[in-house]
Parts: sequence; C-alpha cells; structure tokens
Amino acid sequence: MTDSEPEPTLCEGLAIYPGSFDPITNGHVELIFRGLEVFDRLVVAVAHNPRKQTLFTTDERAEMIRQALPERKGLEVDSFEGLLVDYARARGAHVILRGLRAVADFEYELQMANMNKKLCPGVETLFMMTGERYFFLSSQSVREVATFGGPLDGLVPETVAEALRRKLGHD
Ligand code: PNS
Repeated sequence: MTDSEPEPTLCEGLAIYPGSFDPITNGHVELIFRGLEVFDRLVVAVAHNPRKQTLFTTDERAEMIRQALPERKGLEVDSFEGLLVDYARARGAHVILRGLRAVADFEYELQMANMNKKLCPGVETLFMMTGERYFFLSSQSVREVATFGGPLDGLVPETVAEALRRKLGHD
C-alpha cells in the first residue's frame, strides 16, 4: 500500500446512518467520521416525517449536512420517507448505524432496533458510543440554546450555527 492510498475499512458494504438531524451537531459529525473508518460506504439519511414538526425542512437539514461534511469517497447524504428498513432494503444496506449516548438513549434505541429487526431480520442495527466530549449534546439542546441566542461554539459546525441564527432571527 502506498502513502496516498486510503486506510482500508473494516467492513465492505453500505451502512445507513439515519436521524432527524434537526440540526446536525458535532456529535453526529464525529460519529460519521468514525463510521467511515468502519464502513467503506455510509449514507447519512435524513428522515422526512410529515407528522413531526421540525425547525428545518428536510431539504434544509440535508443541505446543512452536506455543507458541514467534506466531500469524501463513500459518503453520501440522502433523505427518506416511510420505514427506515424499507429505505435500507431499497438501498441494499444491511447495517443501520446509530450513536448511543449515556443511559438516556438506551431504551428508545433498544425499542427501535428490536422493531426494525422484527420488520426486517436481514438488517442489523449497530451502535457506536458517541464521543464522550459530546455525551451531553443533542439537537434538541442545541435548538434550545439557539432559541435564546446562546453561544453555539463547539456544539455545531459553523455553517449550522449561522443557519440557526438566521432561522431564529439572531443574525
Ligand atoms: O434522530 P432521531 O430522531 O433519533 O432519529 C429517529 C429515526 C428517524 C431514525 C426514526 O424515527 C426512524 O427510523 N423513522 C422512520 C420510521 C420508522 O422506520 N419507524 C420504525 C422504527 S420504530
């Protein structure tokens, strides 16, 4: 292997990293980079749920992710509507990647992983622990801080901080 060749990943094939990403945080970004060290292809999939109210539209959320991430071979940003396992099947993915923070995420994630396994046994949910620096961080807390004009340094990529300030009229 020459110096210019990328490090080989651990797993061949496609993994889906789904979420609401309303908005993407630095915790998500860190997990995406770690996911790319494991999987050679990773799709960051923004969920479009017409019944769920979000601060940013699906297109805005996907665009913010594209702006926040460098162009990288094997990395794609997409959106989906409907069941995640149907999307995974349509994309030919066998792995759903989810980040896990401290205990608070566990029950929700367990329920979702079990439901997805029941709906589609061929798709496996794999968890990576969120980087400890980001254990406290969630899109919800970011929206809360941004709503009151608080500092967003270190919480979200700068382009996302700008989008939040614009959206919430703090620019
Ligand atoms: O970032 P989030 O909000 O925790 O992501 C949740 C998400 C979007 C992954 C989840 O709600 C989802 O998969 N929605 C699609 C609908 C679906 O497949 N539901 C069945 C699993 S219970």
